[in-house]
Amino acid sequence: MPHYGDYQNAIYGAGLAGVVPRLPVDFATLEARAVAAMPASVRDYVQGGCGDETTQARNAGAFGHWGMVPRMMVDGSRRDLSIDLLGLRLPHPLFMAPIGVNGICTPDGHGDLAAARAAAETGVPFMASTLANDPLEAVAGAMGDTPGFFQLYTPKDVELAASLVTRAEAAGYKGIVVTLDTWVTGWRPRDLNTGNFPQLRGAVLTNYFSDPVFRAALAAPPEADPAAAIRQWMGTFGKVLTWDDMPWLRSLTRLPLILKGICHPDDARRAIDLGADAIYCSNHGGRQANGGIAAIDCLPDVVAAAGDTPVLFDSGVRSGSDVVKALALGATAVGVGRPYAYGLALDGAAGAAHVLRCILAEADLLMAVNGYPTIPAVRAAGAQRIAR
Ligand code: FNR
Repeated sequence: MPHYGDYQNAIYGAGLAGVVPRLPVDFATLEARAVAAMPASVRDYVQGGCGDETTQARNAGAFGHWGMVPRMMVDGSRRDLSIDLLGLRLPHPLFMAPIGVNGICTPDGHGDLAAARAAAETGVPFMASTLANDPLEAVAGAMGDTPGFFQLYTPKDVELAASLVTRAEAAGYKGIVVTLDTWVTGWRPRDLNTGNFPQLRGAVLTNYFSDPVFRAALAAPPEADPAAAIRQWMGTFGKVLTWDDMPWLRSLTRLPLILKGICHPDDARRAIDLGADAIYCSNHGGRQANGGIAAIDCLPDVVAAAGDTPVLFDSGVRSGSDVVKALALGATAVGVGRPYAYGLALDGAAGAAHVLRCILAEADLLMAVNGYPTIPAVRAAGAQRIAR
């Protein structure tokens, strides 16, 4: 029976023939290579975060104060990483978090398609952002048999919101992820210091420019007058959502509704009471608000509040051991963000797929060594907070 950890054997086997991996297997080396290779404006947008980036650093650092205790004399020779999520049976609990500048992470400008191809190659579901360089239909078409989710940045124009969701349903996405924390952009010094906001330069707006409702509101098509189309986008991006909007959001789709950005247990309870099918615990990788506690430290309370409702998690996941810790703390599925974007930047779909395979391999091997052959076993083992 093949295991994700077999990727390690493939790497060592190639090493015997003098072949080393094209990309590093660890995050620190990957990030260093990627930031050296990316154009400065893309690098700053992807690597940077809010304020002095304390929250962003804390997200990743906080995994260091959670630890797991191995169990011995358990047969871990066959591992089953599969999970049930929102009616889907998935082979493992990893997914690719939505990243609105995937499109410009690859030199050809088609990074969304490359991310979708990485999903097809690895079986890691991709959450496609509203902000993309290729239309959501084409992105869905590149995912092969791997299920995808559509992440909605809710526009102020409710007809446009409905149109985007209807398109996502028609394209075969399996759920709608509504991001709650980004109706306004957080204070991002790296981008401010260079006056760079990709969307204002017309990047990653294809889902808007290809939308019939968006186009109908323009005097001239975006191809003829891109500046007017960008102004139109500025006017509609970022509807302020409150709990009063939940019936409307719920009415937009029969697909599972996943609310992204929930870090407080009361918000998790309220979301579920009002019809959310899943909670997505995330602080947007520290890109939206600085000064917060690490997302992984919010996770246990959110999981407790969510009860039987699935909890997706991201923010600071850099390795397979981070994934297993998040699962041990109750996450149903775990999202990878910046690491796969760096993979895209260095080697397109193959680079992102390599990053995902490394994370899956490390998680699988950790489960083998620690005597956790299944995800329920990981959860039963739990993780302990390490006193400093
Ligand atoms: C994001 N994130 C994000 N989230 C979202 O819901 N829609 C989006 O379009 C984007 N865009 C985006 C761009 C970039 C460059 C980054 C790095 C992140 C947030 C993303 O889904 C996820 O929450 C974070 O990436 C998690 O943090 P780490 O683990 O990547 O640090």
